[in-house]
Amino acid sequence: MNPVINSLMDHRSVRKYTDRPIEPDILDTILAAGTRAATGGNLQLYTLLVVDDPETLEKLDQALEVPFISRSGCSVAVLALADQFRVRRWLTMHSEREVINHRPYSFFLAVSDALIALQNIVIAAESLGLGTCYLGGGLELDVHELFGAPELVFPAGMVCLGYPEVTPKLSQRLPLEAVVHRNRYHKPTDDDINAWYAERDRVWDTVPDSRKAELAEQGLSGIAQALSVQKFSSERVEQRSRGMLRNLKKSGFDLVTGMDTA
Ligand SMILES: Cc1cc2nc3c(=O)[nH]c(=O)nc-3n(C[C@H](O)[C@H](O)[C@H](O)COP(=O)(O)O)c2cc1C
Repeated sequence: MNPVINSLMDHRSVRKYTDRPIEPDILDTILAAGTRAATGGNLQLYTLLVVDDPETLEKLDQALEVPFISRSGCSVAVLALADQFRVRRWLTMHSEREVINHRPYSFFLAVSDALIALQNIVIAAESLGLGTCYLGGGLELDVHELFGAPELVFPAGMVCLGYPEVTPKLSQRLPLEAVVHRNRYHKPTDDDINAWYAERDRVWDTVPDSRKAELAEQGLSGIAQALSVQKFSSERVEQRSRGMLRNLKKSGFDLVTGMDTA
């Protein structure tokens, strides 16, 4: 193939890093590659908040539900913030017209921009031999309190970076036919879905018997059942959504008021 495809096909999330610091010029190259990503209207509706000083990394770690940074030894975290603050200031300095950029269109455009730049960062970092790991918990961080972010700023994604100490196994993916539909949406049957996820179900066979016994006490006897409790129960989803809803409120984005969806 070619080096880009090879690097993409070799992606794996790294959760243990060496103490080798990321060289400043390497980090700058990675961040610059992030900013070369496509961006709505060429407006770069994001801020890449780089956390690399030990004190701030520790503060960030403590704010996470699970302290990934200290456990993994990652030396840099990048938060991709959807950011409509900067462009709003720019426009209002030069235009008398009211600038509306706090509604769903502007919110989703900025979130897309931020995530596209962040994935460019991941690809660039991996191409240079670094390891990366996204952290879903980044979306729950109060970036206004922690980092002084103003209104119209919302955390869209977070990635940890460092040189890998442990290179994990390549993880499974669903077969292409499960995720690629050609020319129209082909609604899968239950049998299709079961066949596609059969490999995932085999992970259950690797769960130690002692853990299986614990899960059996909760009435769980398979991967799908365990996921439905650990990731998709109403308690868990409510808990994980709370920080995001607070962030929405603090950012001033308004996704619902007066929306006529008819
Ligand atoms: C949006 C998002 C959130 C994630 N959150 C976490 C996380 O909080 N902790 C973690 O260890 N991995 C996290 N990951 C990494 C996934 O677990 C990982 O990508 C998936 O298991 C597939 O493994 P691979 O990346 O090694 O191929 C996240 C990935 C994405 C894209």
